[in-house]
Amino acid sequence: MDTKLKKIQVQAQEQGIDLETLPHHLAIIMDGNGRWAKKKGWQRLLGHREGYKALRGALLNASDLGIKYLTVYAFSAENWRRPSEEVEGLMSLIEKATREELRIMHTNNVRLNFSGRIEELPAGLRDALETGMEMTANNTGIVFTLAVNYGGRAEIVDAVKDLIAAEFDPEDITEELISAHLYNPHQPDPDLMIRTAGEMRWSNFLLFQGAYCELWVTQDPWPEFSKQHLLAAVKEFQRRTRKFGAVV
Ligand code: IPE
Ligand code: IPE
Ligand code: MG
Repeated sequence: MDTKLKKIQVQAQEQGIDLETLPHHLAIIMDGNGRWAKKKGWQRLLGHREGYKALRGALLNASDLGIKYLTVYAFSAENWRRPSEEVEGLMSLIEKATREELRIMHTNNVRLNFSGRIEELPAGLRDALETGMEMTANNTGIVFTLAVNYGGRAEIVDAVKDLIAAEFDPEDITEELISAHLYNPHQPDPDLMIRTAGEMRWSNFLLFQGAYCELWVTQDPWPEFSKQHLLAAVKEFQRRTRKFGAVV
């Protein structure tokens, strides 16, 4: 058994992490690309490009560690408020990254998934995401969800619209029913949410699903996110006592 362990799993065990009780679903708010670039005197888009490299590492590390679901916030429903040059740059970067990484994701048994209002995205990006999801649909490894044009409030609004359209009786509305009408109804709720670059806020990410999610924030910006950050977050997660409102 031990011979099959990946390098990061051995390192995790050496740091006192129990591989049996990893967070099942990890969510990441990848923040601080702009500040990272600005500090270097570079344009914000160069920060996003470095952020993409950090994401490639985070996905493979999370997969090797044994995490089953990884959901990352790549572009919020509110990020359209940014200058058009940055918005367009981000849209083409996400498209390019999705196409470029497809082979390596497929080889690593990653299943690509999406969360957000896909119909509002540029056609090229939509096509890249749909092609990727189709190609990896039967993969059985980590489920990697890219949240693009995602807003937690918008997701709840869309679920409510679905329920009304399906003419549900108010008596039948339950938390489980709402949950079943979110963008990814078959995914477990996130257990751990990492935010980089120090802000202590949620920024409209996974509002419904994240109700009892453990938060871990690092001051370091997303382009600097490394294996050590991931292991530190998981280690801290395993130190927490989750109570879900009860007395334990
Ligand atoms: C996160 O980095 C990436 C996106 C929101 C798309 P930011 O672009 O928010 O970087 P800061 O917060 O301005 O440093
Ligand atoms: C959250 O970061 C969205 C993403 C990481 C994609 P923001 O940079 O948009 O969040 P605020 O504006 O600081 O709350
Ligand atoms: Mg930001």
